Amino acid sequence: MNSHNKLHTVSTDDFYGLNASIDTVSGFIKEKMKSRKLVYRYPEKTERDKSILKICQYLLSENFVVSGEHRKGQWEDGWEENLQEYIETKSLKSLIPKYYNKENITRLRGNFVISDSDDFELEVVSLMLYLIHEKYFAYADNIYEFGAGTGHNLLKLRDINKSANLYSMEWTQSGVNLINRVSKHTNDDNLYGVLFDNFNPDWSVKLKHDSSVYTVHALEQLGEKTDEIINYWIENKPKIIVNIEPMSDTLDQDDLLQYLSIKYAEKRGYLKNYIAKLRSLEKEGIVTIHDVYRTGVGSLFIESCSVVIWSPNSN
Ligand SMILES: C[S@@+](CC[C@H](N)C(=O)[O-])C[C@H]1O[C@@H](n2cnc3c(N)ncnc32)[C@H](O)[C@@H]1O
Repeated sequence: MNSHNKLHTVSTDDFYGLNASIDTVSGFIKEKMKSRKLVYRYPEKTERDKSILKICQYLLSENFVVSGEHRKGQWEDGWEENLQEYIETKSLKSLIPKYYNKENITRLRGNFVISDSDDFELEVVSLMLYLIHEKYFAYADNIYEFGAGTGHNLLKLRDINKSANLYSMEWTQSGVNLINRVSKHTNDDNLYGVLFDNFNPDWSVKLKHDSSVYTVHALEQLGEKTDEIINYWIENKPKIIVNIEPMSDTLDQDDLLQYLSIKYAEKRGYLKNYIAKLRSLEKEGIVTIHDVYRTGVGSLFIESCSVVIWSPNSN
């Protein structure tokens, strides 16, 4: 058997920076890993070349979508589709964004990997999120996801933390309606949807005392326009902020796949200079950065899950 035919199973230590170990994760995560058994292999040269060609063709094409305020209607329509599906089926599966699992090649440990499983990409991101949730939010009281979309990440958090107040902060009405319906149908009285625009934060919305904040692929949509949301968080002083986002600052320009990821993020107008901004705020004594790392997780086009953990300093 040659090396690319060899099958591997995703394990806790497949996520750079998280320093997770099967010996220390909860029984819940151990059970998840056992029941889902995520198997993959590395691509053959022709498969890898084909994937790189596909990215290059995209990068050189004229046909691409850039993030920004103008995309609000598209997000509204997208989450409305999920909402209607949820109303019809009452299945929590209808909360899964349709952009997952489009390609059979994804990124793990910063490399391309191939799986026969139809939902490998989603399952890998889910496992990574469970590890992050358990590491930072298991005992938190008030947890806010900004740009939460359908709120499916918050439901994973509920598996880990049964009692916290969970807030989906989302600028689309359809996303907010969806999580509020889920809250009602699942009798989860501590799950809330709140209309909130990260470009133009509503300062009258105050975060609770003793709050924790996270984002997943949501700051990405703001491009360079992150000053307002950073200021809002500084003002509201959550005790921890965990951003799981494509952040080119964590990647190496001299590595081919990381380079292509950086170029893809530029082409789509994704998050830019975020860590640099936080570092300059840290120099001014306004925030403290606790950690910055890559997880190495992503899709064909982009390594989308780098992590920065920081908090505003108390005055
Ligand atoms: C790629 S999706 C990620 C959704 C969710 N965090 C997840 O991981 O499934 C990006 C999300 O950011 C939201 N978003 C984009 N711009 C926003 C803004 N200015 N304020 C709040 N949410 C925003 C979109 O509506 C969408 O829900």
